[in-house]
Amino acid sequence: MIAVHQPVMVDEVVRFLITDPRGTYVDGTVGTGGHSLRIAKSLAPAGRLICLDVDRTSLEVARGRLSQFAGRVTLVKESYVAIDTVLAELGVERVNGILVDLGFSSYQLESSGRGFSFQNDEPLDMRMDQENPVNAGDLVNAGSLESLQGILRDYGEDRWAKRIASAIVEERKKSPIRSTLQLARIVERTIPRRYHPRNIHPATRIFQALRIAVNRELQNLADFLKMVPSVLVQGGSLVVISYHSLEDRLVKQALQRWEGKGAYPRRLPVLHTYKPLMKAVRKRALRPSQAELDRNPRSRSAVMRVAERV
Ligand SMILES: C[S@@+](CC[C@H](N)C(=O)[O-])C[C@H]1O[C@@H](n2cnc3c(N)ncnc32)[C@H](O)[C@@H]1O
Repeated sequence: MIAVHQPVMVDEVVRFLITDPRGTYVDGTVGTGGHSLRIAKSLAPAGRLICLDVDRTSLEVARGRLSQFAGRVTLVKESYVAIDTVLAELGVERVNGILVDLGFSSYQLESSGRGFSFQNDEPLDMRMDQENPVNAGDLVNAGSLESLQGILRDYGEDRWAKRIASAIVEERKKSPIRSTLQLARIVERTIPRRYHPRNIHPATRIFQALRIAVNRELQNLADFLKMVPSVLVQGGSLVVISYHSLEDRLVKQALQRWEGKGAYPRRLPVLHTYKPLMKAVRKRALRPSQAELDRNPRSRSAVMRVAERV
């Protein structure tokens, strides 16, 4: 049985994304199609939805779920970083809104068998795009001590990064680390028990770090954000849902750049007015309602930011 992913903040997505029901929209991370299904239902017959994902299997699940909207919905196996190329190939110049729901889906975690979870023993893979030449096993078994340490520190923000990287390097000398449980046990053994976090498994941040590195998640988000203003119509909206502070920081920084904040030192006279490219629709990030948190505890880390092309 395939685990169906419950889309996060779906009412808010529809409210902020759809500015014109007859417009063209992109779901950059369709997953198994939860958000897209609601978006497609909310569009007028003339509206169009372009769905992207790098995960072939998720995309096929989404295709099945969205089949009733086949005339209006186009699914493409491609990264949201290539949004400009995809739109050009489809003959679309600009779109009315873009959604990216970052992170990984319940389907990938529970049903893909691709090593996103250490609840079951799975191959250490973690590739969202099955065609990606590098998987988590490659990083763990062939990466230098320094590069491993950097990944665990920068993407996992784990205070034990150095120690865990050294333990991995020692362990792989004996035999390659091939499975999720093997890695989770190394982490468990390396962090002194009294420092094990209370609410999460001690390996959670390490798995997050490897997943981010394998899928180049932060580089992709940064590259995509640079492109957004050039593919949105005036008044078009960008909705980003992040699940950790590293992602949200990139979105906040992009907003500041677009709004021209920090472009000039305050003490200098402003010689001409800076025209912002995009502006935040809400100053503060939105978070799931209490009702949603009760219904879907996995939504607890979600942070939504909405920006408008001006
Ligand atoms: C949180 S899930 C999206 C769930 C989806 N909104 C739904 O309602 O089912 C994130 C998805 O982003 C996809 N993804 C990750 N990196 C991507 C990229 N660079 N381009 C496109 N999709 C990507 C993953 O494969 C995953 O399916």
